[in-house]
Formats: sequence, C-alpha cells, structure tokens
Amino acid sequence: MKGLILAGGTGSRLRPITHTGAKQLVPIANKPILFYGIEAMAEAGITEVGLVVGENRSEFEDAVGDGWQFGVNVTYIDQAEPLGLAHCVLIAHEFLGDDDFVMYLGDNMLQQDLVGFVDKFEEARGAHPELGEDPRPAPAAQILLAQVDDPRQFGVAEIDEYGEVIRLVEKPADPPSDLALVGVYLFDPTIHEAVRAIQPSARGELEITDAIQWLADEGHRVVHEVLRGWWLDTGKKDPLLECNRLVLETITPSNEGKVDGASRVDGRVVIEEGAELVRSTVRGPAIIGRNTRLVDTYVGPFTSIAADCEISDAEIEHSVVLERCRIHGVHRLQDSLLGREVEVVRSELRPRASRLMLGDHSRVELE
Ligand code: G1P
Repeated sequence: MKGLILAGGTGSRLRPITHTGAKQLVPIANKPILFYGIEAMAEAGITEVGLVVGENRSEFEDAVGDGWQFGVNVTYIDQAEPLGLAHCVLIAHEFLGDDDFVMYLGDNMLQQDLVGFVDKFEEARGAHPELGEDPRPAPAAQILLAQVDDPRQFGVAEIDEYGEVIRLVEKPADPPSDLALVGVYLFDPTIHEAVRAIQPSARGELEITDAIQWLADEGHRVVHEVLRGWWLDTGKKDPLLECNRLVLETITPSNEGKVDGASRVDGRVVIEEGAELVRSTVRGPAIIGRNTRLVDTYVGPFTSIAADCEISDAEIEHSVVLERCRIHGVHRLQDSLLGREVEVVRSELRPRASRLMLGDHSRVELE
C-alpha cells in the first residue's frame, strides 16, 4: 500500500497567508497541517508517500525533505496546474504503479487515525487470508464519509441498503444524503482506468467523485466507512482556528523555556525551547513557540504562537500567530490568524489613527 498526499491548489480561501506560503504548511499547534497527514500514513504502516505539489514545491522540500524525519520515503510529483483531484491520480500513475494506495487531501485534518481504515481495506482485498474468504468480489475503492449539516459544499454519497456506495455527486444543489466525502480515499489500480475515462466537470477539473462514480457504474464495489470524531477542511480561517482549538486540547504540557517569578502558566500549556515569559500570563490550552518572548502579555486559551515572535503589552486569545510576528500594545486580539513577520502595534503618533500597510486580500476588523 502506497500513500498519495495532495498538496497542490492555490489556497485562495486563505489569502493573503497563501500568497507567500502553502496552506498545507500553515501550523496547527505549531506543526504544519501536512505533517499530521504524513504521520498518520507512517502510523498506518505506509512507507512510500507521493506528494503532489504545485508551484511552491521548494517550500515543501524545505519542510518535508525526503520524509526521513517521519520514517517514510517522499517522492515529489509536480502538478503544473490545479486540474482536479483525479488529475493528481493521473499524473501520479508512474509512482503508484499497480499498488493499492490511500489518497489524502493535504489540508484535511481528522481526529481518527488511518490504521483501522487501511486495515479494513486490506482485509477486504484479501491481504489477511487467515480471516477467511469473503464471497463478494473485493472492493475497488473505500471512501470515508462524515455526516454534515450542509452537504452542498462537499462531494456527497448515496448508499444502498447493503452499505455499498451507488452514487456520488460533487457539490450538489440538492444533496441525496447528508454524508459528505472526507478527504481520505482508498483505491486499487482500477482507479487509473477511471481517471482516464472521465471528462472535466463544470469547474474545469477532473473530479475524483466522477472517477469513483465511474467505478460504481462499471460494476466495481465501492465501500465506505463513516468517520469517528471530528474532521476539518482547514482551507479557511474559521475552521483552521477551530482545528487549532481541538488539537491544543490534546497536547501534553511541557516547559522548556524560561518563566519569571512574576509570570503565570495555567492549564495545558507547551512552552518551547528558548521561549521566555516576563510578567506574563498564559492560560491554556496554548503553545508558545521557540525563542518567542512575551512581556507584560496575556495569552488566553486556544492560541498558538509560533517561533521567534515578540509580544509585549498585549492580550491575545483564540488565535494562530506564525513565525517572527511583532505585537505590541494591542488589547485585545482574538479569532485572528497572522502570517509570518506581521506587525500589529499600537502607535503613540498624533493624530490618533489606524495606519495600515496590508497585502492583497488582507482583512482587518477594527473594534
Ligand atoms: C474536495 C472534494 C470533495 C470533498 C472535499 C473534502 O472538495 O472534491 O468531494 O468533499 O474535498 O474536503 P474541494 O476542497 O476541492 O472543494
């Protein structure tokens, strides 16, 4: 079994952060989103991982390298244009060969690991003969589904009375069920035939939903599992903050930094190496990154501050702050996502005014 992680795409819904960096590398609890996916693959026993990347290949190479740190071998596959998820399978054929594979959307985060999901497919595909023969033909695909309130923004599945997937529609106006396709799929090599057989959709992409539909129409079995726990597509600010909240709730507290006598640390808090708290309070769950300095500052629950930030005379809560930001005199910042090297400072200049220097697609909500 191989792994295929899709990390192309333009990240348009996370601009301006994605003008200068890939959305899959935005950190959740100070770890890039993509790393959670690679770790889940490694845990499921997958060692060969293909990473489909778009124009920011070098950023991925810098962060992921050859995969050694995760115990996997990473092969980079270039996608020149974001032509759809099924297009990724098309261009990954040489890497995938005739192996079964798990495909994973690099901006998705799941609470559940991949171990049980992968095992179930391998069992059904006869990789565990000791369990005896299943009289039905082996499934060609296995998809993960989640019950959602508004299925119209996802691919949606219709299941028959035997639990087999009979229909899939991409972003339907009139959804046949409330079961959305989560960004994790298992395939056998028949999918290569499917992705060659389909045509681009109305949005100009080769849709993986259409390829799976082709499998079902051609008489191949498509089975499913309903997700346990939470699942988030982190490609937008609010789900990203929510994901940060959920992951922070699971971190193991530790302190490798310096906390002075006038500072307080309450609850589930990670203070990374070289971080410093001076007359500051951090109320968890929260994480303070390497060499970040907090002076006369309050950091409230559900906040991740990345490495090398300087925060003074400020209050910040329920936010994600990337590397090397400077925040001074701000009361208070919440529900915010700051990119790298952002400065948010209160100025003493007269006349009093908000003085902004914002990149394209920035968004500011003033109190
Ligand atoms: C893609 C898939 C969709 C799936 C979703 C999960 O949508 O096309 O079927 O439900 O990911 O995140 P996209 O993010 O490309 O709009």
